[in-house]
This record gives sequence, C-alpha cells and structure tokens, in this order.
Amino acid sequence: MKYQFLLIFSILLLCAPGIIVTQSQDNSSKIQSMISQMTLEEKAQLVVGASMQAGGSQPGNTPTIGNSAVKVPGAAGSTAAIPRLDIPNMVVADGPAGLRISPKRSNEDSKTYYATGFPVATLLASTWDVDLVKKVGMACGEEVHEYGVDIWLAPALNIHRNPLGGRNFEYYSEDPLITGSIAAAMVSGIQSTGVGTSIKHFAANNQETSRNTIDTIVSERALREIYLKGFEIVVKQSNPWTVMSSYNKINGTYTSESPDLLTSILRNDWHYQGFVMTDWGGGRDPVAQMKAGNDLLMPGRADQSQKIVDAVNSGALEVRILDQNVGRILNILLQSPAYKNYKYSDKPDLAAHAQIARSAADEGMVLLKNENRALPLKDVKKVALFGNASYDLIAGGTGSGDVNKAHVISLAQGLAEAKYSLDEDLKDAYENYLKQEKAKQPAGRGGFMAARQIPPMPLETNLIAKSADQSDVAILTISRNAGEGSDRKLEADFYLTDQEKTLIQSIASSFHAKKKKAIVVLNVGGVTEVASWRNGVDAILLAWQPGQEGGYAIADVLSGKANPSGKLATSFPVEYKDVPSAKQFPGTPADKPQQVVYEEGVYVGYRYYNTFNVKPAYEFGYGLSYASFDYGRIRLSSTSFKDQVTAAVTVTNTGPVAGREIVELYISAPAQKMDKPESELRSFAKTKLLQPGKSETFIFVIRTADLASFDSKDSCWIAEAGNYTVKVGASSLNIKQTASFTLPEDRVEEKVSKALAPQAAISELKK
Ligand code: BGC
Repeated sequence: MKYQFLLIFSILLLCAPGIIVTQSQDNSSKIQSMISQMTLEEKAQLVVGASMQAGGSQPGNTPTIGNSAVKVPGAAGSTAAIPRLDIPNMVVADGPAGLRISPKRSNEDSKTYYATGFPVATLLASTWDVDLVKKVGMACGEEVHEYGVDIWLAPALNIHRNPLGGRNFEYYSEDPLITGSIAAAMVSGIQSTGVGTSIKHFAANNQETSRNTIDTIVSERALREIYLKGFEIVVKQSNPWTVMSSYNKINGTYTSESPDLLTSILRNDWHYQGFVMTDWGGGRDPVAQMKAGNDLLMPGRADQSQKIVDAVNSGALEVRILDQNVGRILNILLQSPAYKNYKYSDKPDLAAHAQIARSAADEGMVLLKNENRALPLKDVKKVALFGNASYDLIAGGTGSGDVNKAHVISLAQGLAEAKYSLDEDLKDAYENYLKQEKAKQPAGRGGFMAARQIPPMPLETNLIAKSADQSDVAILTISRNAGEGSDRKLEADFYLTDQEKTLIQSIASSFHAKKKKAIVVLNVGGVTEVASWRNGVDAILLAWQPGQEGGYAIADVLSGKANPSGKLATSFPVEYKDVPSAKQFPGTPADKPQQVVYEEGVYVGYRYYNTFNVKPAYEFGYGLSYASFDYGRIRLSSTSFKDQVTAAVTVTNTGPVAGREIVELYISAPAQKMDKPESELRSFAKTKLLQPGKSETFIFVIRTADLASFDSKDSCWIAEAGNYTVKVGASSLNIKQTASFTLPEDRVEEKVSKALAPQAAISELKK
C-alpha cells in the first residue's frame, strides 16, 4: 500500500505567507522623503478616508469623491489622493463572500460588473481545507484586482459566540484555530494576486445589537485564547496589509481608540507591519485613534482631519505619531495596484471562478443525518421539491457581506442539471407563489439591510399526498437569512415555526406511508435548532448559504456525484438555553444593551459543552460521509515532551466509495493550576480523495504553544507540567485514538504585554 506522508505543522506554519508588507530599505527612505514633503494638512488628509456621498456602498449608485466620479462604483470607500505628491486613491470594497461593487454603471447600457458569489465563510470553515480556501482567496483576489480595487475588506473572523449573532455567516467558527487557519489561507490566497486584505472586525465584535456602542467586558484570558487568537494566527502567518478595528468597546475603550489592542498587542506582541483602519464611522475621537495606532479613519469626514490638525497645532498630538500613521499607510500604498498604475481589465475570469465556488460548496456542506443510507439518492427519477428556497436559494447573507452576483442557481435547476425530473405541479405552485410574493415586497428589496423573507407557501395536504404518490422522494428546503445591523431572533429563526414543523411532519408521513424517503436541506447562514424535528426525516443536509452555484452543489451531494466531507466548525446545541452565553446575550439593559459580560470566559462552543457534559444536537467537528474511515493507533515520537512531540496517525477509507476525512487532533491538558476545557482542538488535516481501501498518514507536530494557556496574572502563555492526552478523532466527541505524554516541568512559552484588563473582576464560569 502506498502511504502518502503529509507534514502538518502546528498553528504557525500551516500556510505559505502572503505578500510581505515589511518595509524594505528602499521603501523606508522613500516613505521618509514623501512624509518630509507633506504639509500638516496633507498628512491629516491622508489618515482620513476620502469621504463618499451617502449610499456609497449601495448597488446602482455612482458615488463621488469631491467632484469626480469614483473609479469603482459601489466600492465602500477610498483613501485620499494627494496628486501633488503622486499619491493616488486606494479603493477599498467589501466582502467576504465575494467582491461587493455595483454590477451596473449609470453611464453604460450593457456592460456589467458582476462578481462571483462564493459560499459564505461558515461553509468555507466547514471544509477544514486550507488549500481549497486559498484557491477561493486567489479567485476573489483576481476579481478585486481586475475590477480596480486595492484592498478587500475581508475576511471577517469574529468568533461565533452565540448562534443569534447576525453576522455569523460572515465569520468562520466558534474555535480560534479553525478561524485563524482558514482566514490565514484566505488572506494568503487574496494577497498572492497583488491586492491587500483588511481582516475584520478587530476584536470581540460578536453581536449586532448596539454594535456601535456596546461595551464588551471580557477577561484577558478569554481575549487571548478565544477572541484574539484567530487574528494572531492570521497576522503571524499571512501578514494582512490592513486590519479593521471594530465598532465596540472592550473593557471600557473603543477598540479603535485602544493603545492596548492596536499597539501593545497587535504591534508589540505580534509584530504587525501593516496599517489599521476603522470600521465605517467607528470610534469617537480622531486624536485618540491616531495615538492608539488606528492609522486610517473610514470612510472619512473633513471635521476629523481638522481635529487632527488642531491637535498637532495645540501640542495635544505629537507630529511624530501622525508621521508614523502616515508612514504605515504609505508603506502599503507603495505596493498597491493604484500606485503601480495597474491596468485592470474589468474582466475577471467569472466562468473559472464559478467552478471554484461550486467545488468549495461541495466540500463545505455537512451531512448531519443519513438514516438507512437515504443519501445518496438511489432509484430516484422524480423528486417532489418543497420549500421556497428550493426554487429561490439563499446564496449568502445581507448587508455589506452581500455580493452582487449575476445569477444564483436554485436547487430546482441543480436537480434538473443532474437529470432528475421534478413534480411539475409543485414546481408551478412554488414559482407562482414566489412571483406573487415578490411583487408585494416593498421597492428596494435586495438593498443593503434587506432581510425580509417570504413566508413559507401554505401547502394543501392533498398536494403533498399526490406528490407522495407520483414522486420517488421528497426534498424540503428550510431557509434562513440574516445580516449586518441586527441579530437573529429565537422564534421563527433559531427555532423553526409551527408551520415549518407541521410541513416537515406532513411531508414525512405522506412519503413514509409510501415507503419513500423525506430529506431536509438546511439553507442557513447560522445555527438553527434541529433536535425537536430531526427524528421525523431520513436525512438532513446542511447546505449553509452555498453561493451562486449552490443549487448545482446541493444536487452534487444529494446525487452522490460529490461525497460530503464538511464538518461542523460550530456546535449545534439541542436548545438555546444550552448555549453558554445564552444568559448574557446581547447584554444589559435588555431594552437597549450597553454592556455585555462574557461570563462564560474561555468556555465557548465545544469547550463548554464537552467540559460541562451538555450534549449538543450535533457536536463541533461532526459530519457524515458516504464512506467510512478507520483510524490506526497514534504513534508518538516520545512520551516525554522536550521541544516538541510528533503524533503519526493513519486513516483508511473502509467504505464503498471514495471520500475525504477530516482528522481532528485535540489535547487535554493538566489543570492543577488553571481551569482548563476538557480538551481543545490543536491541529487538523483533511485527507486527499481516498479510494476505497486506501490510506493516508499524517504526522502532526505538537509544540509548546499547543500546550499552553494564558495566565492573566503574569501575562504569559504557560504550559503546565503533567500528563497530556492527545485525542485524534472524527469529531470533538467521536475520539478514535488516544495517547499520552508528560511535560516534566512548567514552561513559559511567551511573555506578552499586560493589556486590556477588565476594570472590575468578572465572575467567570469555572469547572
Ligand atoms: C461593516 C464593515 C464594512 C464597512 C464598509 C460596516 O458597516 O461593519 O464590515 O466593511 O461597513 O462597508
């Protein structure tokens, strides 16, 4: 048997670096010379974005800067130009599921500027496939570059603290290692094309309720281990050109005004080389922002520049600080397509990118349930296709993360391409209903904040019974949408409505009565409740919001053309009350939250469920395949830890079809001195496509950093002496093999700055 050896380096080495942003000697003298030629007013202009007219990021608008039409309509903003010094504007535009620009321009009749709608971040994280995500990043980068944009406002990587988070679809996971590894791959891919990224929203921006003012009260340990860790991984691995600070406060200070966050942690501890921009309108005090290291204020207002000029003149702001802010922006500018006068084509390869979007969607869907091998579909010719979203797929969420794509492939289209016939009566009924309901929607639907969903079509029981007679299988799509500006609701969002549950029951009982299967497809951006209704159906495919090619991809998986290989990067709890942050979300006072206390500390997601024995409906790391996999025993390089230990594991496909397995490595650490989660994900790998009977061997490298926890008292990462258990498995609860080693004495891995301490003690959850 031929073994494939693949070295998986722990945390820091997982991806190739992106374009390096470190200042070269040449650039450094050039930057100094540019700064020396700038007037104070010009400096204050450069650190404040070139303000755009209201609605700058709305599709269809042609915003302006001053009197001249902007280069890329629909982009979110741009930096200021100083023509006297040959400093051009850098254009910045939104993401993260694809480039967000206006698809049409008012002065052009037929030309279009559509971008590819890729699967949402939650789906990309569920691939656990850094190579694939890097390819997605390269495709996005090419669109950014070819449409004349310099910096893409993506990826977004806040932690899924609570399932109701309105922007969770834009974020990756409840786990910082997955978050950081996937985001780093994305940044490497994007920046390899010669454009920049802005990783956002730094940091602890885990809710939309009161998002501009909320004060997040959180311990230093939870910050370092959970909420900052993903950003740290990306900064160290992939050198993003820019970081976007968030709207919220952390422990009393706006993130964009926090020297602790932007200087002590980002620059001093992590050695970050790029520049920091605000989120749009974030923070209050331009002078405090400059001092903290928030170099660029977006989208920019004239009064902000004036305040900076006044502060320098009065001595409240040292010009040395302003020069540093300016220098960091110039350092990126010198590498930008705008500065290099790149001749963009306005013709990215949308056809090739559609294929990448489809294969990413194939890889990131999660098969949650598959009773008696209901899937892949067998002996099925005719499908009874239920649910609005089966005919009108939700490709991605709303708000600034919504992409203006040329088309969205519905599941009906996907199944037709896969040569299934559809129950035409049902299809007609749904299509007519959707047409009528859309006509009733207020004008402007599809705009920035639109999230109103068409209510499910009421179905008469005789139509269901007839389709059970005439079709071979029932497929019902349940859908949800959310986005920037508000959090999700519990009723009729996290929980299914009574109408939806009744529909599931009626369809399942009619089809089961005819010995036919009933399958549910979840077309959602975030976690929904499944435990109360899942027993009624044969299979559940979590398709997430799978991008513009979604209908094809869902059909690929249902038909077996693609074998599902996604796994959950975020837990599905049985009930909302099981969520560790349920009692402290979205904060207090209830009518208008101003403060949210992260009392659950580091016990976020599976770290909580698995430590406190709260069984989720589907646990972190879970996902089924049409194949099955056997895990050989773990071979450790040593049972005593010196500088590192390697763990070798061989995985074999024992199933009937080719498939890919995600191999998850967790470590349980001794907890004599500090409270510790039952175990934590410390590495992972995904096999190549293994044919039946074939194997692949992984060698995971475990370093001291993978054993360490954050000690807030001494501001250091420390690995405690004692016995460590390596657990390798198919999910956080489905551990297949374990092995142990000891660390002879305590080891301080890294000493860092004392930063972001809460003003008052937090009563944090403990074991
Ligand atoms: C969002 C950011 C976005 C920015 C520019 C803000 O409202 O929070 O994610 O990049 O707008 O559109």
